[in-house]
Amino acid sequence: MGEYREFVFVCTGSDCKSAGCKKLIGDLKEATKSTYKGRFKIIKTKCMDFCKTGPMVIYKEEVVKKASLASLRELFDK
Ligand code: FES
Repeated sequence: MGEYREFVFVCTGSDCKSAGCKKLIGDLKEATKSTYKGRFKIIKTKCMDFCKTGPMVIYKEEVVKKASLASLRELFDK
């Protein structure tokens, strides 16, 4: 495994797919390469049982509903 410092768990269950998790994963990977210099490892997960509020992300202790790169940046940059 690489030298990742933090993990970002993104649900790729069917409802989160409909809610745009693929775009979110692409955005996160791009931001990890550029702005965040390899800080994150993106982990795809199965359904986390918050299907109506996708895309669902878990980052550190936070459950992030309707996640977007913009909403996650607020946590990443804290
Ligand atoms: S499909 Fe993502 S939480 Fe259920």
